[in-house]
Amino acid sequence: MTIRVARSACALLSFVSPVALAAQSAPIRSTIARTPGAWTDTARTPTERADALAKAMTQAEKLAYVHGFFPPMAKPQAPDMIPSAGYVPGVPRLGIPTLRESDASLGVANQVEQRKGDVATALPASLATAASFDPDIAYAGGAMAGAEARAKTFNVLLAGGVNLTRDAWNGRNFEYLGEDPLLTGIMGGASIRGVQSNHIVSTIKHFVLNSQETGRAILDARIDRTALRESDLLAFEIAIAEGKPGSVMCAYNRIDGDYACENKFLLTDVLRGDWKYPGFVMSDWGAVHSTEKAANAGLDQESGQELDSKIFFGKPLVDAIAAGRVSTARLDEMVHRILTGVIASGLYDDPTPAAAQTIDYAAHAEIAQRAAEAGIVLLKNTGDVLPLAKTARSIVVIGGHADVGVLSGGGSSQVRSVGGIPIEIPLKSGAAASFARITYHASSPLRAIQALASKAKVSFVDGRDPAAAATAARGADIAIVFATHWQTEAQDTPSLSLPDGQDAVIDAVAASNRHTVVVLETGGPVLMPWVDRVPAIVEAWYPGQRGGEAIARVLFGDIDASGRLPISFPRTIDQLPRPRPVESPNGSTKNDASANAGAGDAAALAAYPVTYQEGADVGYRWYATRKDRPLFPFGYGLSYAKMRIAKARFVGGTAASVTFEVTNQGTRAGTVIPQLYATLPDGGAPRLVGWARRSLPAGATATVTISADPRILARWRERGWQVAGGAYTLTLATDADHPVASGKVTLDGRSLQSARAALDTQ
Ligand code: BGC
Repeated sequence: MTIRVARSACALLSFVSPVALAAQSAPIRSTIARTPGAWTDTARTPTERADALAKAMTQAEKLAYVHGFFPPMAKPQAPDMIPSAGYVPGVPRLGIPTLRESDASLGVANQVEQRKGDVATALPASLATAASFDPDIAYAGGAMAGAEARAKTFNVLLAGGVNLTRDAWNGRNFEYLGEDPLLTGIMGGASIRGVQSNHIVSTIKHFVLNSQETGRAILDARIDRTALRESDLLAFEIAIAEGKPGSVMCAYNRIDGDYACENKFLLTDVLRGDWKYPGFVMSDWGAVHSTEKAANAGLDQESGQELDSKIFFGKPLVDAIAAGRVSTARLDEMVHRILTGVIASGLYDDPTPAAAQTIDYAAHAEIAQRAAEAGIVLLKNTGDVLPLAKTARSIVVIGGHADVGVLSGGGSSQVRSVGGIPIEIPLKSGAAASFARITYHASSPLRAIQALASKAKVSFVDGRDPAAAATAARGADIAIVFATHWQTEAQDTPSLSLPDGQDAVIDAVAASNRHTVVVLETGGPVLMPWVDRVPAIVEAWYPGQRGGEAIARVLFGDIDASGRLPISFPRTIDQLPRPRPVESPNGSTKNDASANAGAGDAAALAAYPVTYQEGADVGYRWYATRKDRPLFPFGYGLSYAKMRIAKARFVGGTAASVTFEVTNQGTRAGTVIPQLYATLPDGGAPRLVGWARRSLPAGATATVTISADPRILARWRERGWQVAGGAYTLTLATDADHPVASGKVTLDGRSLQSARAALDTQ
C-alpha cells in the first residue's frame, strides 16, 4: 500500500463530521469515570503514575495501545472515529484516553476536506512565525491551534516540525522554522508549549533529517555524527527542553543505513540516554518497516498502521513477545512512555470533551493576523517607496490572485480555513496529488489595500500578460505585484524561480512604474533576477487566513515591517550545498509515487544516499565557511524606523553576553531584532547564540542585554557537551552578514551543565 493510494482514500470520503456539525454548540464538560489508584494521585510524578497505570493494564490493553489506526482506511470504523490522521482506542476503566490525532502545524488540518464543512483558523507558515523571532508569537499560535483541536475533540497534535532547512528545494520548508538550531529550537519549543497549555499532547517531528521530500521513504541521510549533534539534533534537543512535547515522531528516511523509526542510536542512545526524554516515540505515517528491530530500537507506537506494508505492532508484536524477541519489559516500557506523555501534558487529568465545543474564531483570527504581521520581512525599500501613503490616488494590484486571497502550502498541514477557500486546484500528477491541492485562503490583499486607502482608486489585473500589467501600472501612483511560489509536502520544488512567467511580469511592471512593490508569497527562498530593478520587495510567506490584512497593514505602515529572514536567500543556485534540484533514484526531480512508497515498495528500491557534506554548517554558516554572500542573509530584514545600535560592551568569564543601547532615531515606532553571533576558540563559522526583539517609540532609547546560549557555544565531545575555555569572538549584528560591533572575550572551560548554571546565576 503506498501513501499515494492511501491518501486518495481520504479524498474519496464524503463524510459529514459530527464534530463539524456540533462545532457551535454549547460547551460540554467532560467527566472522568476511572478506577482510582496511585495513577490518579496528582501528588505523584507523571513517571510514578504511569508506572502504576501500566501495571494495572492487561497485556491485551497494552498491546492495543501501541498501534493506531488511520481513520480514513480503518476497518471496522469505531463509532467515535472521524476522518483525521490517527486514532488509538483508550482504556476507559482506567481513564486512559482514546488518542485522537490531528495534523496541526499551522492550525487544525483538514486536508482535501476529509471532514466536510469543518473549518479551523489557519496560521501563517511556520517559517513566517520563525521570521518573527518572537517566541510569544509562536506560543500564541500553538495555544490557539491546541484550543481549537481540543474543542474539536482532538487530543494529540502532529505539530512541532523542527527539521532544519538544509535544502532550499525542500517542499516542506514552509512547515519548519528555518536553518538555525537555536532559532528553531526556541520557536519550536514555544509553539509546543502553547499547544500543550491546552492539556493535550504535541509531537515534535520529524526525528530526524527528513530534509527533503524526494524519495523520503527511501532516502538514507549520511552525515558526520558530531555535525548532526551540533545541527539537526541540537534543534530537537533545544525544542524538547523548551517545549517538553509528550511525543516525538520519527521520520520516514534512514540515517546512516537505519530507518529513523528503527534507529537505536537516535531513539535510545540519544533521545533516552543522553536527553533523558520521558515521553513516547510515534512513527510517521507509513514509516515502520519491522517489528522487533523497531520495538527494540525504541519505537513506542506504530501510527496510522494501515499505511504501513503490514501492521507491525499488532499480531507480529504479540508473536515477537511470545517468542522472546521483544521482552515484556520492553512492551511495558512502550506503554509507560505513552502514558507518561499523556499524564505530563495534563490530558489524563483533563480529558478532551466527547463532543465539540464552541470556538471563538474571531479572536483566533486576530492571533493568526498578529503572527502574519510579525513575520513579514521587508527585503528592499529604496527611496522609501514604503510605507505607502494613504493619500495615494491610484494603486494597481497585479497578479497572485490577490483579488481573492493568499496562497497556502500543501500537504498534511493544510487547514480548511474559516472564511473559505476561494481557489482550490487539484494536482494532475505527482506524489502529493492525492492529498494536496493548491489552496488559497479567503483573505484578499486587494480588498484590504482598498480598505486602508479609501480615497484611492484601487484596481486589479490578473498578471497573466506582462504587457497588460505594464499598461495598467503605467498610469498608477503605485503598482503592487503579488508573486507566488507554491510548495507542498511530498514533492520538492523543481525550481527556485517564480513559475508561470511571473519574473517577466515583474520586469514589465517595474519598467513602467518607478513605484513598484513586489510582495512574495513563497514557502522559502526564490530567485529574484529583477532585484536591482524593483525598489521595494516584501516577503509575506504563506501568510494564513488573515494574510491579506496583514500585508496591507505592513504596506501602509500601520505597523512596522518587523520580520527577519529565518533562512538565507541565495543569489544563484550555484551557491547552495546541493545546487541542483534533488533527484530521486530514477533520475526524476519529482517525488514520484515509487520514490515515496510505503514500506513494501520502498524495500524493493535500493537505498538512496544523500550526503550532507556541509555537516553542521547549515544555511548562513555554509556561506560563511565559503566566504560567500547570499542575496539576502539569515536574520536580515528592514524596518520603517531608523534604529541605531551603540555602546556595545561584551562580557566573558563564566558566561558570555553583550549589553548595548538601541535608539529609534526615526519618526515612527519600530521594532529591532539585534542578534549575537559567536565564533568559537577553534574557529569555524559564527553561530547565532542569542537575539532580542524590542519595539521602541520614535526617539526612545533602550538598554538591551543578550546572553549567549551555552548550548550553542558548546561543542559535542565524546563524553558530552563542553564549553571550551579560550577566546571567543562575539559579534553584535543586524543579520548574519552585517556586524555592528564585535569583541573578543575569554570564557572559562566547563561542561554545558555548569555553563548553564553560571548563566542562570548571572
Ligand atoms: C507527514 C506527517 C504527518 C502525518 C500524518 C505524514 O505524511 O510526514 O508530518 O503528521 O503524515 O498526517
